[in-house]
Amino acid sequence: MSKVDVLLGLQWGDEGKGKVVDVLTPQYDVIARFQGGPNAGHTLEFNGIKHVLHIIPSGIFHESKINVIGNGVLIEPRIFAQEVQALKEKGIDATKNLYISKKAHLILPTHRMLDAANEKAKGNAKIGSTLKGIGPAYTDKIARTGIRVGDITEFDFKEHYELLKVQHLQTAHTLKFDVESFKIDNMSVEEYEKEWMASLEVLKQFKFVNSEYFINKCLDEGKKVLAEGAQGSMLDIDFGSYPFVTSSSTITAGVCSGLGVAPSRIGRVMGITKAYCTRVGAGPFPTELFDETGERLCQLGHEYGATTGRSRRCGWIDIPALKYACMLNGVTDLFVTKPDVMNDFEEIKMCTHYEICGKQTDELPYEFNAVEIKPVYETYPGWRQELNGAKSYTELPARLLEYLYAIEKITGVNIMAVSISPDRKDVLFKQ
Ligand code: GDP
Ligand code: IMO
Ligand code: MG
Repeated sequence: MSKVDVLLGLQWGDEGKGKVVDVLTPQYDVIARFQGGPNAGHTLEFNGIKHVLHIIPSGIFHESKINVIGNGVLIEPRIFAQEVQALKEKGIDATKNLYISKKAHLILPTHRMLDAANEKAKGNAKIGSTLKGIGPAYTDKIARTGIRVGDITEFDFKEHYELLKVQHLQTAHTLKFDVESFKIDNMSVEEYEKEWMASLEVLKQFKFVNSEYFINKCLDEGKKVLAEGAQGSMLDIDFGSYPFVTSSSTITAGVCSGLGVAPSRIGRVMGITKAYCTRVGAGPFPTELFDETGERLCQLGHEYGATTGRSRRCGWIDIPALKYACMLNGVTDLFVTKPDVMNDFEEIKMCTHYEICGKQTDELPYEFNAVEIKPVYETYPGWRQELNGAKSYTELPARLLEYLYAIEKITGVNIMAVSISPDRKDVLFKQ
């Protein structure tokens, strides 16, 4: 009996999940997204082509593989249609190998409006949402008022839609939000709605499935399934830096509810971390650098959001947060990305503990957002050399291997591979 392997981010997102899923896809038959939605931006690069995926799994460039959008994912039909079109322009016909759960919920134009309204109402306390409607759409799911993919072919779909839209407009008015001048992609809500409705026809070209049966049958047949996470563990709705989080379960537990697989069917859990750390949007970030080094990480790492273009906050690797994420996810293998960004650095720091009110700890406090956290660092000498000459893991510079070994030792998790460029070909497996 096959099990579902999991690939997810251990930090605040953008760890390089898209690239790594693309690299691992040849080893699998099925790639399935289990949560999140168009807030994600997963970048893939090969043959000089760069591609960013938002809702569609990162296995889509391998035509013989099956891709699944699970019930835990949110679909925004117009963004989805644009993604399908962008793939078509690169010669990929996603209708052939992409299956969509009937139970996946839809993001309506008014969910996006509410996202903006909620953020505006929060003022300085805003989360820094990607404004794709994630929070409001998951709110409707939990409130049992949402609309699912399987509903769009039902006779009362329009009625259901209008009812929900009226509710959303009422909420926006209560929040004193200026609905009339609100624009989505430079369109009024009405204009956007027309395009959104037209995009449903694109969605209907895909195979709608009961993905829980679909995935479990694949496993029964011995097919290998890889679950692709979005966001990162520190953005998890329960365990992230709440309220500065996303609205879904981004950890391994989310695979069970987002695909309909039992915990006993989870296999390896591969956790990705950058060799440093980034965060986009608001919220605590103990190792954030506000100096020239932070700026260098941003520039050399091209740390600009794949979905919003916003510049990402940068800092040193945060081991307490990494250990926390390994614990929550049951990480069996670590995958480290982007050490190449620090090739020229004289020294590299690793935060091993936090100092809070004069006491050292390696645990994340409940008051993560409210207390002053001073990172306690260990310093490593930089390797000061290009990595693209290395053809195997052991050929990496000794000082980088030392740094990686320290990460393994302190987390207690084995590193399976290191990525040393955005390109598909630059991954060194440890064997
Ligand atoms: P995701 O959301 O986890 O899929 O990550 P993003 O695509 O949002 O951000 C990761 C960025 O780093 C993308 O621009 C990737 O092309 C790039 N990237 C991934 N791995 C590496 C690496 O090993 N080295 C470098 N320099 N860039 C990488
Ligand atoms: P990938 O899958 C990085 C952040 C937003 C914001 C918070 C809530 O590419 O790693 P939301 O739109 O979900 O309401 O935003 O979460 N965020 C991400 N940060 N990578 C992502 O996805 C993210 N998706 C959401 O910046 O702080
Ligand atoms: Mg991203």
